[in-house]
Amino acid sequence: MATGLLRRGISISRNSILSASRLLTVRLHASEAEAQQVELKARPSTNLKTFQIYRWNPDNPSKPQLQDYQIDLKECGPMVLDALIKIKNEIDPTITFRRSCREGICGSCAMNIDGCNGLACLTKIPSGKETMITPLPHMFVIKDLVVDMTNFYNQYKSIEPWLKRKSPAPNPGKEIPQSKKDRAKLDGMYECILCACCSTSCPSYWWNPESYLGPAALLHANRWISDSRDEYTEERLEAINDEFKLYRCHTILNCARACPKGLNPGKQITHIKKLQPSS
Ligand code: SF4
Ligand code: SF4
Ligand code: FES
Repeated sequence: MATGLLRRGISISRNSILSASRLLTVRLHASEAEAQQVELKARPSTNLKTFQIYRWNPDNPSKPQLQDYQIDLKECGPMVLDALIKIKNEIDPTITFRRSCREGICGSCAMNIDGCNGLACLTKIPSGKETMITPLPHMFVIKDLVVDMTNFYNQYKSIEPWLKRKSPAPNPGKEIPQSKKDRAKLDGMYECILCACCSTSCPSYWWNPESYLGPAALLHANRWISDSRDEYTEERLEAINDEFKLYRCHTILNCARACPKGLNPGKQITHIKKLQPSS
């Protein structure tokens, strides 16, 4: 009997220990949930950021101004172009900018973001509470962030960016073959998307936009000068052997820093200078 009591005593104390531990577990769970709730309350539910955007409307020609737009980054994609599209769709449909591919291919969303030229679709929204977006520097503004690219495209056209031959093609109606080695000489140039980030970051281009061809056009000039299939190398070199068209480049290399495709127009310009008979 004494053994029976002893066993019951043991079983009672075991049961009490089990219930106590269950209670403790429930309490622990409860306190974890409470802690999570406190943490959720402490976490901000929004991440507000202000974009200061350059505004100018030719139909209402007052002074250009910066206009503030505040958006919640938690409800926005990660790129500057995402923010601009959100502002246009949800806050102000009058804001004007160019964009097309949204993946760094068309070159149309080039603009100045916090002082640096870049493609809005490839530039992550900078950290910090404010970001300023203005048009490409030293360009005539058509409206808001849209600039006039006529001079830039005319300069590109002036270097005759197409294959020119004196002799007939080896296989008429077919491609003109090129060795892998010759093809590799075009690397670092053929990738250019003509966004104008380089030319509009070049001080020489700022001061002489009409007469200096600028890094983008000169990079393309070198692309055709370097093409083994082209037979107008001498003429191409002669056409740009000019104090203003070519020699306004002072190798400051702002262009290489600005290029969103990682190209180095300054290096291509140096190559052209070295090929000139006067060098
Ligand atoms: S290297 Fe030449 S083209 Fe490039 S930014 Fe300097 S001056 Fe302009
Ligand atoms: S070289 Fe780079 S920055 Fe200049 S136009 Fe081409 S892609 Fe744009
Ligand atoms: S939208 Fe095409 S390069 Fe940015």
